[in-house]
Amino acid sequence: MPKIYTTQARYMLHGGDYNPDQWLDRPDILADDIKLMKLAHTNTFSVGIFSWSALEPEEGVYTFEWLDDMFENIHRNGGRIIMATPSGARPAWLSQKYPEVLRVNAERVKQLHGGRHNHCFTSYVYREKTRKINRLLAERYGSHPALLMWHVSNEYGGECHCHQCQHAFRDWLKKKYNNDLKSLNDAWWTPFWSHTFNDWSQIESPSPIGENAVHGLSLDWRRFVTDQTISFFQNEIVPLKEITPNIPITTNFMADTHDLIPFQGLDYSKFAKHLDVISWDAYPAWHNDWESTADLAMKVGFINDLYRSLKQQPFLLMESTPSAVNWHNFNKAKRPGMHLLSSMQMIAHGSDSILYFQWRKSRGSSEKFHGAVVGHDNCSENRVFKEVAKVGQTLDELSEVVGTTRPANVAILYDWETHWALEDAQGFGMKTKRYPQTLHEHYRAFWERDIPVDVITKEQDFSPYRLLIVPMLYLASEETIARLKAFAANGGTLVMTYISGIVNESDLTYLGGWPQDLQEMFGMEPVETDTLYPGDKNRVRYQNRSYELKDYATVLKLDTADPVGFYEDDFYVDTPAVTCHSYKQGKTYYIGARLSSQFHRDFYETLIKELSIQPAFDVKHQPGVSVQVRQDEENDYIFIMNFTEKRQPVVLESAVKDMLTGETLTGEITLEKYEARIAVKTKK
Ligand code: GLA
Ligand code: ZN
Repeated sequence: MPKIYTTQARYMLHGGDYNPDQWLDRPDILADDIKLMKLAHTNTFSVGIFSWSALEPEEGVYTFEWLDDMFENIHRNGGRIIMATPSGARPAWLSQKYPEVLRVNAERVKQLHGGRHNHCFTSYVYREKTRKINRLLAERYGSHPALLMWHVSNEYGGECHCHQCQHAFRDWLKKKYNNDLKSLNDAWWTPFWSHTFNDWSQIESPSPIGENAVHGLSLDWRRFVTDQTISFFQNEIVPLKEITPNIPITTNFMADTHDLIPFQGLDYSKFAKHLDVISWDAYPAWHNDWESTADLAMKVGFINDLYRSLKQQPFLLMESTPSAVNWHNFNKAKRPGMHLLSSMQMIAHGSDSILYFQWRKSRGSSEKFHGAVVGHDNCSENRVFKEVAKVGQTLDELSEVVGTTRPANVAILYDWETHWALEDAQGFGMKTKRYPQTLHEHYRAFWERDIPVDVITKEQDFSPYRLLIVPMLYLASEETIARLKAFAANGGTLVMTYISGIVNESDLTYLGGWPQDLQEMFGMEPVETDTLYPGDKNRVRYQNRSYELKDYATVLKLDTADPVGFYEDDFYVDTPAVTCHSYKQGKTYYIGARLSSQFHRDFYETLIKELSIQPAFDVKHQPGVSVQVRQDEENDYIFIMNFTEKRQPVVLESAVKDMLTGETLTGEITLEKYEARIAVKTKK
């Protein structure tokens, strides 16, 4: 496991979004920033996000001097700059002079100038303007020693329905369907509700998108939105790649906050291929009133493991808050200790940075109450600042962790297209599809046992894993099915669940029963999926224990599979609910019902034993403590984290060295509430 350095930095990045352009008439504040950056143990700043009007106040009039100063000041203090391109928001003159850059919403209403993240991603003018300003930035700062990487735009997302976008969409469709309208009509099942098209010009982006739309159209539209956003991005990076070929490029990804599920607006598995480094903005609602700290920590683990696995290399935490955000329903402060703990969790799962939105709170407008390193008190003596400084000091001790990876024997498959298609599907339980949440429930069984997991997407290589878990893969192309089959045939253990293999890549159902390849692999066929009301009760008997099920129960018709779990009630009482099948060199399991956490714990315990899957470092502990390991050829870096509100004794498998205190830790040690210990173990 050689280290994978994603940037030139050989230390943990600490810092964040910095907008000196809001304070240009306050040199005293700018001078304070530099002093405070030292005190906060920060070293890296993302500059230029939303700064277009400060860089080009009038068309063709450039005022880069403040940015020159910034580069110098930060450089003089030993800091580095992540330079953002400014396309996330634009100056008023640009929208006024070239209204085509304004986005048109799904109702075909052109949006007025204002807000941010709202350009047309097809607009020729906007593409030209962004390329131009990006070129000037690259020419001016490309060889500056402080330049660490490029942060292209900000949180790409959303879609535009203007005329240019409709044209681009039709062109995209023509290319995809080889100019053959019949194959488009076939793929979209358009005779349904008389949706057959006989001219390309009749095709419009879906409005509304969702359950009542033509599903194939919605799916293709979402694919187009991803491709068009990537195309916009590629246009932005033309001058960056040309002038600064050695400076890595990223753009910041997002997640939905409530359940920390992947952002749905774009298929990041496609976007990832065009980035040098994955970075993302994490805003978990710590201390919320709907789940335990440990439950939330598990979800944070999951999404980090997904974003890390996109490139199988360390990623960057591009934004996080030192305390509260301003846009949750209730913007609760991180409790003492949580900032360090939550930051260490990010590092444990593969981040090589802790960066914040934002360095300094703005004085006005919508983010003036969003957490920041420096508050309106402009002082280093408050709790939040001190906790940030503590994270900085801790990161200073963790330089050797940079570039290390997290090998895993277990993978869970997440698929953006399945997520989209399932959300569109009218059927099953409209409110209980819960695709990513179902993945969480499988992930949990491994998280609780400190077993590393990669969360991968369908085009990734399956062969490195012993166990591949594929819950609810509703949309599965023949190609994906063939790849899963090859995985099992070659000795892999494959677990699949209810609502898998139902539609193909056009969102058309398979005919004539479950796809033959799946039937062969699993030695059985799911023949009926029963959707339950939330209050319905049933259970499954598995290995002499009884487990609760909810939401879904599939009736199975067995061929050569062995039944290993049985329904306890309803018209399928005593029929198989869980099956096991030996397929060529491998083994396949099908879980027909949505079963409880306890089932997953016990079910996977058996597989973990059978497949000799171990945690990377064994620590005996109570639930709510998480142990995650990063590794390189010489060392294991062990993060032991207490996500409970109680002191926790834990027992270590062998002696390790505490990276922060230097002491040897052995046998039983105690973690305080929200404490994280980081230790190193040198391999023999
Ligand atoms: C996003 C944006 C930032 C800021 C934060 C607030 O992540 O990228 O500009 O608005 O949210 O949490
Ligand atoms: Zn448009």
